[in-house]
Amino acid sequence: MKNIILAANWKLNKSPAETRRFFKTFFDEGKKKSFYAQIGKQFQVVFFPSTISLEATSESVKDSEVRFGGQNIYSESQGAFTGENSAKVIKELNGHYALIGHSERRQYFHESNSFLNKKIHHALKSDLIPMYCIGETLEERESGKTEAVLLAQLTEGLKEITSANGKTLVVAYEPVWAIGTGKIATADQVKETHAFVQKTLAKLDLEQTPILYGGSVKAANAQELIQIPHVSGFLVGGASLEAAAFLDLIQNSLA
Ligand code: PGA
Repeated sequence: MKNIILAANWKLNKSPAETRRFFKTFFDEGKKKSFYAQIGKQFQVVFFPSTISLEATSESVKDSEVRFGGQNIYSESQGAFTGENSAKVIKELNGHYALIGHSERRQYFHESNSFLNKKIHHALKSDLIPMYCIGETLEERESGKTEAVLLAQLTEGLKEITSANGKTLVVAYEPVWAIGTGKIATADQVKETHAFVQKTLAKLDLEQTPILYGGSVKAANAQELIQIPHVSGFLVGGASLEAAAFLDLIQNSLA
């Protein structure tokens, strides 16, 4: 069985009170599932709440093997950086991960590959696992630029990050056109693209890196997608907002 990671990206959703309610249902219902005892052993479950709900998440998951992290970090942990988010604080709250370079950060906040590279270095230095997101837009795919875009995102974003760093890294491939649109990449597209990402990571001396797929993943398509070579799990937006739906997705990903 692959070492699967199932990650929930809540984006700008869920207040602290809503976060606590989600986790109450998630654990009440989750404990009835046969897979529950394997969380953190056979596979990982990771939540990325909004910054304001990190503490509620930390408190909610503290007696479990469920992990969490920040949706974004700045490349410095403290100082005169109004509005930014600190790796040190995520660590203090017992978080394990930092989501870096989500396409919404790239698109709306103009984060470049070289800036994201600084964040990845900073995450590793801060003892957080970077989950680095890559993906092409529809226009890039249709004009045959997918591989060139992914190659640049990987080589520039992962500059001087090698397995020699001795730390863990996760890559999430999310075609921008499949995020929140209900449009899912075909099994062939996922197979072909994940093979390319794997090949590129191997050239960068990072071949052990798990590669997650993201973009309109839900319980109904998880089982098919998880069978594809080099798909080590999912980064899930919409289908992670309801505890029951996310538990079904977890179940189907392990089937
Ligand atoms: P989606 O979002 O599952 O709602 O498409 C995925 C993501 O943005 O990480």
